[in-house]
Amino acid sequence: MTFPRLSVAAGALPLSIFQRLYDRLAGFRGDVIPLQIGDTYLLPPASGRLSEQDFTADERELYAYGPAPGWPPLVAALTGKVRRHNRIPVEDGGVQITAGATHALACAVGALLDPGDELILLTPHWPLIRGIAQSRSVVSIEVPFSQMLLADPGADPYALLARAVSARTRAIYVCTPNNPDGLVLDLAMLDAIARVAEQAGLWVLADEVYEHYTYDRPHVSVASLPALAPRTLTVGSFSKSYGQAGLRVGYVAGPRPVIEAVRKMSNHSVYNVPHALQRAALAALTGGDGFLADARARYRQARDRAVAALRVPVRSPQGSTYLFLDLGGHGGGVDGCLPVLERIAAAGVLLAPGAPFGLASADWARLCFTAVPEDRLLEGIDRINRVL
Ligand SMILES: Cc1ncc(COP(=O)(O)O)c(C=O)c1O
Repeated sequence: MTFPRLSVAAGALPLSIFQRLYDRLAGFRGDVIPLQIGDTYLLPPASGRLSEQDFTADERELYAYGPAPGWPPLVAALTGKVRRHNRIPVEDGGVQITAGATHALACAVGALLDPGDELILLTPHWPLIRGIAQSRSVVSIEVPFSQMLLADPGADPYALLARAVSARTRAIYVCTPNNPDGLVLDLAMLDAIARVAEQAGLWVLADEVYEHYTYDRPHVSVASLPALAPRTLTVGSFSKSYGQAGLRVGYVAGPRPVIEAVRKMSNHSVYNVPHALQRAALAALTGGDGFLADARARYRQARDRAVAALRVPVRSPQGSTYLFLDLGGHGGGVDGCLPVLERIAAAGVLLAPGAPFGLASADWARLCFTAVPEDRLLEGIDRINRVL
């Protein structure tokens, strides 16, 4: 059967990066330790579990279409949180609820960039942002930002960024704390981003989904800098903050007219985020402070024990939930470190291959240290050490 042709963008998007590893895992008989996906083994705060919601109140709302910006009590609570906690001066109407941060970023890219425009990615970067850009025929331009700054604290962040700007550049995607290497941007780095964005008239997409998980230096929201507030869209996620990835609730905050454009994209893709899930998100937000403190302490301990146990070069991440491992000494070649990751998969442990995190990352691999409880994490690291 011959189908009519697919879109160019769909053809260009990569398939799952894990297939080769899953094939090797198939032969493994035993306890599989999945350290490849960015998730948490913790259940959400009790207040935010579906089993704790009183869905009998206002039952009609569960089944009706909801307002396009999001459920008003959740929008109001997030507006307050963004003002107080993130110190971002959002007006009423400056927050849009989305189906996770993935959808938030897709809507933001759709609202700000046209086909052929360039989006600067600070690498290594969260892989899906490249596909989100690709699906709109937006061109990704990689800048080895945290790679350079972590290797050489004397490097000039302004110079690194400024030389990547062209006449087609429209926006910079910034992730702090960064997935995968955990860099938390400090004021000097944010100031460099502000100067480049102002001089070249660029938007900034601030992906701050790991805002609550910093261990060595405080998180500063990109849009809390006065120069950046009018040109920045900030993205947050209940997946990361409260362990509710399955609920698919996230949000974008920014200047009201820009959020109106984002809202059109959201409204024309999911219409509105399911009401029941927004209720559970609000309950986590209002009753989850204890969870955040507890999760942060557990994650910090897991990070420290994982770093101490690993016998490959690894920098202790300042934030996020990942270790980014340099496996350059274990193979290399056209497939980067995939062959060694296949051997690790054959021992029942999955890591994320580095290539999708940026052109210079093929010899690297990402390990999520919050995906499983600590005893299984350390068992996984033990198996990795033995393979290496
Ligand atoms: C940096 C970053 N941004 C966005 C997302 C997407 O999160 P969500 O589950 O809210 O779509 C992730 C998920 O791993 C992430 O690591």
